[in-house]
Amino acid sequence: MTAKLIDGNALAAQVRAEVSGRTAALKAKGVQPHLAIILVGDDPASQVYTKHKAADSEQTGLKATLERFPASMPEADLLARIRALNEDPSVHGILVQLPIPRHMDTHKVIEAIAPAKDVDGFHVASAGALMVGQPGFWPCTPFGCLKMLDSIGYELKGKHAVVIGRSNIVGKPMAMMLLGRDATVTICHSRTKDLGAITRQADVIVAAVGKRNVLTADMVKPGAVVIDVGMNRNDEGKLCGDVDFAGVKEVAGWITPVPGGVGPMTRAMLLVNTITAAERAAG
Ligand code: GUN
Repeated sequence: MTAKLIDGNALAAQVRAEVSGRTAALKAKGVQPHLAIILVGDDPASQVYTKHKAADSEQTGLKATLERFPASMPEADLLARIRALNEDPSVHGILVQLPIPRHMDTHKVIEAIAPAKDVDGFHVASAGALMVGQPGFWPCTPFGCLKMLDSIGYELKGKHAVVIGRSNIVGKPMAMMLLGRDATVTICHSRTKDLGAITRQADVIVAAVGKRNVLTADMVKPGAVVIDVGMNRNDEGKLCGDVDFAGVKEVAGWITPVPGGVGPMTRAMLLVNTITAAERAAG
């Protein structure tokens, strides 16, 4: 192995320690930072994710309230509950776990969250703020990826960063964050022709497609930094990313593992956004 590993678990622990410090400072001023998590329906994965989010919050001193509703909940009731949380000054962050039941309009539900409490960073106001470089909330996964690049002291200015994937919650915001750091950014996607010809020019590659082996060793410039956002299962049912880790680690300069890479960082950045929301509210 030639690549150095960027350890998401270790970095996430550092981030949580920083959040704990900020939480303690706010509590000393009489403010209890509070994240409201809404889960509609009983999707098994969502139940696990929301439990983790609540446990992570409590571990760093943030109060987390997990509100569970049946899948049959009318959309109007969910919107009313979100509006009530928007108005509640004791709540600093609101997260509606996705996916929500199909009779609900995801866009409408996310837009109902007050931008000042949008700790997922999914609201159009958050996306717009990132686009124009104004304070807002950055989506947790790309924010975590940026933090990983910062953790190795990587200077993005003038570097060519290639993002594979154009989703609203990872690819697009990731590209904006890298652009904000003066990288030259290329966004590739499922219709990109000759992906390898583009990725071979990259100093930094962020793979966020949701498909195994999207990035193989022959597609990577020696020494490049490779961030793997993928969460897939291989034929043996083991968790794996979008990157052919075994091959790419022999070429890359730095690489993130799956598991233990971007996943823990995504969880940690939600805590950062929540304490940030509470600090802003406290003034
Ligand atoms: N479902 C899967 N990932 C996420 C996430 O980051 N936020 C929310 N709200 N729902 C999700």
